[in-house]
Amino acid sequence: MNIILLGPPGAGKGTQSARLVERHGMRQLSTGDMLRAAVKAQTPVGLKAKAVMDRGELVSDEIVSELIDAELAAMPAGQGAIFDGYPRTATQAEMLDALLEKHGRALDRVIELAVDEDALVDRITGRFTCARCGAGYHDRYRQPRQAGVCDECGSTEFKRRPDDNEETVRTRMQEYRAKTAPILPGYEARGIVRRVDGMASIDAVTAAIDAILA
Ligand code: AP5
Repeated sequence: MNIILLGPPGAGKGTQSARLVERHGMRQLSTGDMLRAAVKAQTPVGLKAKAVMDRGELVSDEIVSELIDAELAAMPAGQGAIFDGYPRTATQAEMLDALLEKHGRALDRVIELAVDEDALVDRITGRFTCARCGAGYHDRYRQPRQAGVCDECGSTEFKRRPDDNEETVRTRMQEYRAKTAPILPGYEARGIVRRVDGMASIDAVTAAIDAILA
């Protein structure tokens, strides 16, 4: 299956993608992760994207679509794809259709994580990850079992995203409302959108997504 996880910043796209990878052997295609890797490696794309991401604005449609194209080209035909954070504009939605056709794939579902925006600022500004293995934590909702030590790999180094501050999160939400939410009706017209309550517990959201994909 090829699915899009759609929702504003902090809706749980990354959290649920990781679980789909683990449970169903699908591949997570997160343009945010790809861009952060490019920023870290100081590639030409990364150098261009950094300031835009730090402001919470959207990187160009061409750049992100090229990243997705390269990932799809490298994937085995039988492996399902989870589009996490892509598409984010009407142009990207059109580009994705073309890319899926090019790579002999079809879009099966768009899963919308419906959330209360006020709760998202709290979710995002409290988020941190293990600097070594990337395991996700939260100041209030998911602290490591032993303070300062990653549950998964034992590392004592953690990091926070530079765009996870309140001002940038507000801009990211505005971008979502203005440019991303308007792509939903087009998918609704195709009958492939399923809505999930993203304010439920992480396990309940996973169960709802599993039921949709069954
Ligand atoms: P990106 O990395 O895609 O960020 P985002 O869309 O803002 O989404 P997040 O990663 O912040 O949130 P998420 O929905 O994955 O939530 P998570 O699971 O972590 O993009 C970053 C930037 O890159 C953009 O601003 C833009 O500049 C650029 N970019 C990326 N893609 C682009 C594109 N296609 N076009 C143009 N520019 C692009 O969850 C958040 C927190 O909540 C975690 O702590 C988690 O543990 C917790 N949590 C999750 N679910 C629940 C739950 N059900 N209950 C309680 N807590 C929960």
